[in-house]
Amino acid sequence: MKRIAIAGAGAMARVRARALLSTGHVQICGIAARHLSSAQRFGAELGCEQCFDDVHRLADTRPDAILVEVPHETQDQIVLWAIDQHCHVLIGGSLATSAEVAGLIERRAQEHHLVVEAGYEARYSPIWETARQMLAGGDLGRLVSIRSIALWAGDPRTWYYHQHASGGMPITHMTYCFINPIRWLVGDPRYVTAFANKVHHTAPELVNEENVVANLRFDQDVLCSMTAGFVAPRGLPAWSVTFIGTRGALDVMPDEAGAGTLTVYQGEQPERIDFAGQANAFDAQARAFIAALDGQAECRNTPGQTIGDIRVAEAIVTSAHECRTVAL
Ligand SMILES: NC(=O)c1ccc[n+]([C@@H]2O[C@H](COP(=O)([O-])OP(=O)(O)OC[C@H]3O[C@@H](n4cnc5c(N)ncnc54)[C@H](OP(=O)(O)O)[C@@H]3O)[C@@H](O)[C@H]2O)c1
Repeated sequence: MKRIAIAGAGAMARVRARALLSTGHVQICGIAARHLSSAQRFGAELGCEQCFDDVHRLADTRPDAILVEVPHETQDQIVLWAIDQHCHVLIGGSLATSAEVAGLIERRAQEHHLVVEAGYEARYSPIWETARQMLAGGDLGRLVSIRSIALWAGDPRTWYYHQHASGGMPITHMTYCFINPIRWLVGDPRYVTAFANKVHHTAPELVNEENVVANLRFDQDVLCSMTAGFVAPRGLPAWSVTFIGTRGALDVMPDEAGAGTLTVYQGEQPERIDFAGQANAFDAQARAFIAALDGQAECRNTPGQTIGDIRVAEAIVTSAHECRTVAL
């Protein structure tokens, strides 16, 4: 059994705790939130009595690993503290709020031989695994371009919409959808050109880049256009990635549980593959993380594999601010 402590008691802490417990190899040994009542409520659900309003008290519960599910402004310091406690870390969000801190996390985790995994579950989902195999197998011919859209109706009352608390929309939202899975399929982009605006919720403390259109150029002249933002008109289909090749195209339309549909355009008729009911990506990621603690599996979102997501998000911000192309 692995002893897992949890920092945070919100929506995603619940999703990940369930996934970790589903491995059958996890005992939740402690929970900390900002408010004790919040930690205790979550503790009652999980049968965990060690609940705190100070994350540092989690060290008293002798965890093997810490699940960090907090707003991004506090995430960096909690992750670095957890590593200093010689705990493995599963991070609910992006690896860090900056490439600088991500680099620090990478170095310290290596020094202490710890597993650190960022929270992008896409790389564990059957839909993205299938898309990856099709691209690697040359099913679409030579890849020419990629088009993605990810609009999410953010709530300006939550920390997600706050620049300081979230680290900004590109880090919070675009690394998930869909920088992280696109990089898994086609590697790192070399150039980034982006524009951003802020038109719906404009209070100064809210995210600087509310809506972004970014163009990326990958190796072998693969072009990518990404639209993402926190303004999402109700009912508009706005959550997909299309890969266009010389011999066909692939539409990936993931849903929140990591299922969704994939449509292949090759012959006379498009072929639609439905991933409903397939393995849950959070469960698969939890299994990989727990197995990795004993060296029995490799994680897919290690610091080395995900620092690039943050670099792309930072390049998007720099490009939009300075009105220039950024070379990576
Ligand atoms: N993979 C995905 O699909 C996905 C989707 C959405 C979000 N996420 C990520 O999941 C993570 C958590 O997001 P969420 O939506 O669960 O957030 P949330 O519901 O707002 O919950 C945040 C939790 O953090 C606690 N907290 C705040 N400051 C703290 C501190 N200093 N020490 C300890 N706990 C503290 C809060 O405590 P109180 O309850 O006492 O206020 C709350 O329980 C984020 O990194 C986010 O990017 C991932």
